[in-house]
Amino acid sequence: MNEVAQQRCQLPDWRERLMSADEAAALIEDGMVVGMSGFTRAGEAKDVPLALARRAERDPLQITLMTGASLGNDIDGILSDAHVLARRMPFQVDRHLRAAINRGEVMFIDQHLSETVELLRNKQLGKLDVAVIEAAAITAEGGIVPTASVGNSTSFAILADKVIVELNLASPEALIGLHDIYVPGMRPDRQPIPVTAPDSRIGTPYIPVDPDKIAAIVLTHGHDSPSTVTPPNEATRDIARHLIGFFEHEVEQGRLTSSLLPLQAGIGSMANAVMHGLMEGPFENLTMYSEVLQDSTFDLLDSGKMIFASGSSITLSSSCGQRVWNHLERYRDRVVLRPQELSNQPGIVRRLGVIAINTALEFDIYGNVNSTHVNGTHMMNGIGGSGDFARNGQLSVFITTATAKAGDLSSVVPFVSHVDHSEHDVDILVTEHGLADLRGLAPRERARRIIDCCADPYYRPALAAYFEAASERGGHTPHCLEQALSWHITARRDGSMRSVVEATPTPAPVADDHV
Ligand code: COA
Repeated sequence: MNEVAQQRCQLPDWRERLMSADEAAALIEDGMVVGMSGFTRAGEAKDVPLALARRAERDPLQITLMTGASLGNDIDGILSDAHVLARRMPFQVDRHLRAAINRGEVMFIDQHLSETVELLRNKQLGKLDVAVIEAAAITAEGGIVPTASVGNSTSFAILADKVIVELNLASPEALIGLHDIYVPGMRPDRQPIPVTAPDSRIGTPYIPVDPDKIAAIVLTHGHDSPSTVTPPNEATRDIARHLIGFFEHEVEQGRLTSSLLPLQAGIGSMANAVMHGLMEGPFENLTMYSEVLQDSTFDLLDSGKMIFASGSSITLSSSCGQRVWNHLERYRDRVVLRPQELSNQPGIVRRLGVIAINTALEFDIYGNVNSTHVNGTHMMNGIGGSGDFARNGQLSVFITTATAKAGDLSSVVPFVSHVDHSEHDVDILVTEHGLADLRGLAPRERARRIIDCCADPYYRPALAAYFEAASERGGHTPHCLEQALSWHITARRDGSMRSVVEATPTPAPVADDHV
């Protein structure tokens, strides 16, 4: 083991900084602000957070925890159950932490993923005391080579007073050279960030850190959690089919080429299914400029349909993980991992004309999207990077199944109960029933198209009735304000929106599915 450690750690006096996870966790004190590596369950520090949770069971302490995005290996849940988390940002997907957030015990700051380190760097989030970063290697100068994600690790390591490095000896050596680390300059003198294509390399393959700040090196061997993406089903395949058909139409119209534009796909099973669907279409030389690279990315690379993928993390299922991590060298010249403020940088997303594909919990008849709050109050995961891409991409697509909870909830509602993406940032909406192209449409036109194309046939008449009643009252964006949230109020009362349909006076005929 020491031989591997010696190989991976070139820092001359590294043995003097070697300590156990418990000793390193003792550097974190009650009330501190801590930045940890980890993005979409990839590349998180694994042993020190668990040591911190163990310590908190004996000796209670609370910290503010910032990460790139969600942590794997149940770490968010374990920290939450040990009451370590006073404040947490910018994203999570853990059911225990989610419950603590919704009980009001953990102050969760739901943030665009590109923004956290900008705020930190500009001293708008206070001082960062400790960074805990998982590394595949440490260079002789103290440069930290991240593992399966970069996330916010770069700026955490640069800005923190002390850095704890978890050197993961089980991480593939081929990770060395995969990353492209660049830190935007301070304002007002910041220069343009020179990423002009998904495969641009503009930085260093390691995080440059003052070696004197490395206070501890902990040797670890853990693995990232496999992704929980479920295989495509009929509904997600239909969503993919509608979107692929739309892309083909855009190519025919000359608005896109067969290479499309760099693709971004959000987290989850639906986005993964859509990306898989691209395997079937007449597309070639595809690229990604995204944040998380899932199974579908590597399937597209293997099939030859995709030529390059840029992201901030790699999150894979067990089977795909075995294929990729055991043969990472095959992908080395076709994949790059960047800090999330670069992978999600609004200026670059706008420059490249990214096609952004993200998932909604619900959207309304005018195109406002709720991605985060169930019934307007209860946090699901967070906005993640969806806003970074949706507002700035060339095409902003939101997908969802038309209903949730076995049809009890309509995902198309009169008025969303929380707005993450306003109608101004949304171009295309897709459900299994069809696709609504909202470009160039006024609100009243949008409403008709969304109801006809996207709503579940069962809920369509009730939505149409709402829109008709609202239209009679006038307005640019007509609403019956006293009824606008009645679907959610009904859902909160009954656990279902079905009684809204039952109360609709004259059901209109159910239209066929639309594309
Ligand atoms: N009302 C209430 N609950 C709803 C709902 C609605 N309208 N629509 C979906 N849900 C529930 C589902 O029932 C499911 O609940 P369960 O876990 O108890 O089964 C849960 O939300 C997840 O939905 P699912 O259909 O499994 O979709 P998903 O895994 O693709 O996740 C989001 C969907 C919206 C939660 C997820 O994409 C997300 O967190 N998005 C925001 C962040 C983001 O877009 N990031 C992109 C860049 S990383």
